[in-house]
Amino acid sequence: MHEPEPSAAVPYYEDMAPGTGALPPRAWWPASDARRVGLGGAWRFRLSATAQAEDDSFARPGYDAARWDVLPVPSHWPLQGYGQPAYTNVRYPFPVDPPYVPTENPTGDHLRTFDLPDDWPGGAAVLRFEGVDSCARVWLNGTELGTFKGSRLPVEFEVGELLRPQQNVLAVRVHQWSSGSYLEDQDMWWLPGIFREVTLIERPEGAVTDFFVHCGYDHTTGTGTLRVDCEPGGTVTVPELGLDIPTGEPVIVPVEPWSAELPRLYDAELATEGERIPLRIGFRTVAVEDGVLKVNGRRIAFRGVNRHEFDPDHGRALDQETMRDDLLLMKQHNINAVRTSHYPPHPAFLDLCDELGMWVIDECDLETHGFEEVGWRGNPVADERWTPALLDRAARMVERDKNHPSVVMWSLGNECGTGAGLSAMASWIRERDPARPIHYEGDLSCADVDVYSRMYADHAESELIGRRAEPPLADAESDKRRRNMPFILCEYAHAMGNGPGGLAEYQRIFDTYERCQGGFVWEWIDHGLRRRTADGTAYFAYGGDFGEELHDGNFVCDGLLFPDRTPSPGLVEYKKVIEPVRIAGDVGRGQVTVTNRHDFADLSGLAFSWTYEVAGVAGDSGRFTVPLTGPGQSAVLDLPPMPRSPAEGEAWWTVRAVLAEDTAWAPAGHEVAWAQFPAAQRGPGGLGAADRVHGGAPHAPRLAEGGMVVLGPGTFDAATGALRYLAGAPLEAPRLDVWRAPTDNDRGMPWFPDSQLDRQWRESGLHRMRHRVVRVAVGGDTLTVTTRVAAAAADNALLTVYTWSAAGDRLHLDVAVTPEGEWRLPLPRLGVRMGLCPTLDSVEWYGGGPGEAYPDSRTAARVGRWRASVEELQTPYVRPQENGARPDVRWSELRRADGSGLRIEGAPAYWLTARPWSTEALDAARHTTDLVREETLWVHLDHALHGLGSASCGPLTLPGDRLEAAPAAFSFTFVPLEATWCVPPGVEQ
Ligand code: GAL
Repeated sequence: MHEPEPSAAVPYYEDMAPGTGALPPRAWWPASDARRVGLGGAWRFRLSATAQAEDDSFARPGYDAARWDVLPVPSHWPLQGYGQPAYTNVRYPFPVDPPYVPTENPTGDHLRTFDLPDDWPGGAAVLRFEGVDSCARVWLNGTELGTFKGSRLPVEFEVGELLRPQQNVLAVRVHQWSSGSYLEDQDMWWLPGIFREVTLIERPEGAVTDFFVHCGYDHTTGTGTLRVDCEPGGTVTVPELGLDIPTGEPVIVPVEPWSAELPRLYDAELATEGERIPLRIGFRTVAVEDGVLKVNGRRIAFRGVNRHEFDPDHGRALDQETMRDDLLLMKQHNINAVRTSHYPPHPAFLDLCDELGMWVIDECDLETHGFEEVGWRGNPVADERWTPALLDRAARMVERDKNHPSVVMWSLGNECGTGAGLSAMASWIRERDPARPIHYEGDLSCADVDVYSRMYADHAESELIGRRAEPPLADAESDKRRRNMPFILCEYAHAMGNGPGGLAEYQRIFDTYERCQGGFVWEWIDHGLRRRTADGTAYFAYGGDFGEELHDGNFVCDGLLFPDRTPSPGLVEYKKVIEPVRIAGDVGRGQVTVTNRHDFADLSGLAFSWTYEVAGVAGDSGRFTVPLTGPGQSAVLDLPPMPRSPAEGEAWWTVRAVLAEDTAWAPAGHEVAWAQFPAAQRGPGGLGAADRVHGGAPHAPRLAEGGMVVLGPGTFDAATGALRYLAGAPLEAPRLDVWRAPTDNDRGMPWFPDSQLDRQWRESGLHRMRHRVVRVAVGGDTLTVTTRVAAAAADNALLTVYTWSAAGDRLHLDVAVTPEGEWRLPLPRLGVRMGLCPTLDSVEWYGGGPGEAYPDSRTAARVGRWRASVEELQTPYVRPQENGARPDVRWSELRRADGSGLRIEGAPAYWLTARPWSTEALDAARHTTDLVREETLWVHLDHALHGLGSASCGPLTLPGDRLEAAPAAFSFTFVPLEATWCVPPGVEQ
């Protein structure tokens, strides 16, 4: 047994060194003819509360671990019932006392025995760990192999001489906290464990130690260059190119290049005396030229996302299907780039990126953000004692991932401030791989990098940068360098809760300025952990749900996917905003212009078609023939003559671009881009003639017994003017409503009070408005109710006049709102809310859909006739908040199962929201399971909504999407669809 060195003052898990005993880092390859034994599966497991609670006798062969528990490997033990996960964003969950860690240091001893396959040849072999969080010490058959840190980076040990045919004992002690934890302060769950594979790999005599595929593409000649450096030397064959060349020797051959859009790979084989490795080679050249980032000579534009590895049940222990699912979902949503925030992903993910086509910024496993909390004192990147650990991390990333064409940039890490350690990493990387630019966001002077990268710069600043007109840096030299760099937003559009708003406005900037080469939405997926209530209902947990002493709540749920990988409305919006084909209609000329916004692909992979709809009813349809249209080019297509339609009403053209053939990521017919444009103008009040159900003769209001006023189908309380019955059914009267359950973006940033609309709204009482009835006036054919809507302690108000009239079976409401006094804040919403019978469960509407939309996130809504159940109208944000609005609704019909119900027409069109719980309940809920169906269906008919913005970590709602208090007038018509349209709950029919 190896004993710890007696002189070591600091134990291995606290020293700053990266580890001991490991082999030099090298490339990863998924397969070769050398044998492999996967060591995943059921391991014996023992958890201790401290690093030194147990001695290392468990590592000795013969140790009896029969009483230990069984744990699956790979996994994180807190997700298997041992201890708890914990979430912090920036703050370290332990004292900032580098390199020391708390005495309470959960430590998992992992043990398994294994036999070698019968045909195992003996000789050299390595034991490889793909990822262990955060520090491990390893023994094989009682001999210590070494220790390591660097959770998301691989490590290998030479083990050939220690192996036996049977009963090999592999023992791994894993500490949750180590000096490495100071370098791994990413915004995510703290989750220790052996969370990626452990593999034994045979290394026959003459096997490949390491290799580096250097592949380039010269767009001026259409040729590729290939040189494979390999230790030891061997040959490379590429049958499709007729190549059979020695390693180390360059060749130039005509090839088709690789790009994220056209991921052309060539099958190849690398052979040395002892090993044959299948390769997939992609030819491409990345360069920053004339201030622009180019691949194969062309400017590229990132339509990207930041991707953490996450699964709601397994944390960062992802299986291959999940990785592929992520990429398929991205491709299907027009996403072309991933920043691997904030650590190298599982290596198989990069193989999939090569295969399916994705630009990748590969980021090192490094973040020291928590030092900002202490004024950056002791920041490891500025303390040379840590530099070996930093260089170790850079090398383990670059060596592992250097052979992937999809990796187009190396990123030094995230949010580490500045320091010489970062410069040392950059120099090492540049020396080792001069063919890829370097990225790091945290240093405004851009000293070590090739691109100017920022996070959450707002629209106005991004635009300034786009014009290369940003405020200068103090140092003229650095300023000149930076001003001549391409610009990317490595994070933008914080997708927390309902949002992000303002995506389309960012895209306009990316499309306008050559320098702005796109960005990466923060982030891909909500990290909500699946948990169940006592009755077994699933929900997603976030920070604070595990009793953490420090935590950052639901800031961990800020993705475009819900934790179960269901796309959120934000992802649907992003897909539309970044669509790679722009379609614009010119009805006057009877033409459509399609613009190819790909960087490499022409439009031959897409089929274009049109449909003609009147009042939401599909009419004729047909196909376009599109001429060859290269990247950046446009084609003008002729619309057919306006089809004749049996229906009357609003007519719309819809033009769609779908995949012409099956691809690796979606079947033929998958929609890539679309546009809609009106063929004729709308009728008055937003309705075409056929959209309006005609009424009959006007009614006059009459006083009825019980202090009621009857007006057509409406029965009102004569004293308050409130509508009490509609066609005999009781209801909660429609009345002015300005409140919404604040979104995460309304809550804003804890560190920026001006962003906290929620707080300001509550301070001014918008969630507790009172309605004083000023006057109820019965006129010749109207009932007019004047109210003053205001909050306690405030002297500003919304003067609201409801004017009711009726004709035939139609009840009509005009609402006029006039603000009084000073209104400094925008209103959350402006409309009426009413309470109806909860059996009205199915909704049909003519307007924007099918999904949710808000003023600054509505690009993906198309006009049509849509249907949904009330349940389907709800968007299950992990922390419940305002959701579910449908825009531009001309009319909606809420029906019961028997077809009876209520039709609501709007003039102008309105925002429709219907929920089985009130805004108050939504506001109070912390998790989806807190929401319980009420005995009322709450229906919001809004004239206007305040935009979303992305102020949970980014810009506020843009001025044009703010809902300022201003005079407004809007109206609704209520039409009962059957006399028995609603029976109160509990009443037998
Ligand atoms: C950035 C950081 C991310 C994440 C994001 C907010 O500052 O790089 O890791 O914390 O903000 O969700």
